[in-house]
Amino acid sequence: MHKAKELLELIDDYLKAQRFDRKPRNLYSPFYYILDLPAKRLRPLLVLMAAEMFGVPPKKALPVATAVELFHNFTLIHDDIMDHAPIRRGKPTVHKKFGEATAVLAGDAMLVYAYQYLRMAPLEQVPALLKTFNDCAIDVCEGQQLDMNFETNRQVRVKDYIEMIGLKTAALLATSLRLGAQLGRVPDSALNHLTAFGRELGIAFQLKDDWLDAFGETNKLGKQRGGDILQKKKTILILEAIRLSGAKEATHLWKLYNSSGKNKVDTVLKQFESIGLRESTLKMIEQRFEDAYMHLQLVDVPPKHKAPVMELVGDLVGRDH
Ligand code: IPE
Ligand code: IPE
Ligand code: MG
Ligand code: MG
Ligand code: MG
Repeated sequence: MHKAKELLELIDDYLKAQRFDRKPRNLYSPFYYILDLPAKRLRPLLVLMAAEMFGVPPKKALPVATAVELFHNFTLIHDDIMDHAPIRRGKPTVHKKFGEATAVLAGDAMLVYAYQYLRMAPLEQVPALLKTFNDCAIDVCEGQQLDMNFETNRQVRVKDYIEMIGLKTAALLATSLRLGAQLGRVPDSALNHLTAFGRELGIAFQLKDDWLDAFGETNKLGKQRGGDILQKKKTILILEAIRLSGAKEATHLWKLYNSSGKNKVDTVLKQFESIGLRESTLKMIEQRFEDAYMHLQLVDVPPKHKAPVMELVGDLVGRDH
């Protein structure tokens, strides 16, 4: 089994070697721009790890891993337009740097390139991979629309929120594992447990993403802190804050949260701190990672085949960006 560090190097070297040298140049410049910025490469790592878990050498899974990373970066470019985000991976977002119209189109082109890489899988496997990939792409669109709908919805419950993040974020983590496993010979039961693990992992991952948006350190985060508050995103933090506040405080906080204006961010953050959300939500997130772990235990392969993924889960619990 390869360690995460070795697989990461494999992914980064492969990505670096890819050329998108067609014309017009300014359609493809955003590809190089966003792909060269520092990123965790979580999804391609999951592809390679799942592949190796079922006997496929990581190198053989690189095109599929690349398809998934390209798809992810396409969603980030479009997500930053939807979320009015100025900073990503420590630098101006693609639409800030290249303009909105080019960002939309570069994202579209990147999505199509993702399919080109998926096509490089062994021919007889392409239909099944395509089905997994497309189901996920639709989930992500649905999740992203719900995420935006919730900005102006004051009735969002935790259950709705979990459904939304299951679609916008967890689907792609589950799919990354699934695609990797599908490159090998994988029994249905293992595939199902692995997918359930990916979904739980993705939910925990997005909870931590929400947590970092409020409590992360700006210099490590690489994104604008408090962006979710500014956009009235219905994150786990605001839902928990409402649940943990008394009726009067809750009404006041909810009103402030759903109001417009830049200066509300500091006030909301102070409220979050005073309720003790920093610690309480972190505990809840750790519990979610534990739950994910349980599903991984049920995947019936020798423990040493799961070791790299287990280590990766450990890293994600404590991540600061
Ligand atoms: C950000 O993804 C988008 C979410 C689904 C939360 P990552 O946190 O994996 O971003 P990079 O790829 O490492 O920049
Ligand atoms: C992003 O959720 C999910 C997708 C990109 C599909 P967020 O909007 O919370 O991700 P960040 O925080 O901008 O990375
Ligand atoms: Mg966003
Ligand atoms: Mg978003
Ligand atoms: Mg976020």
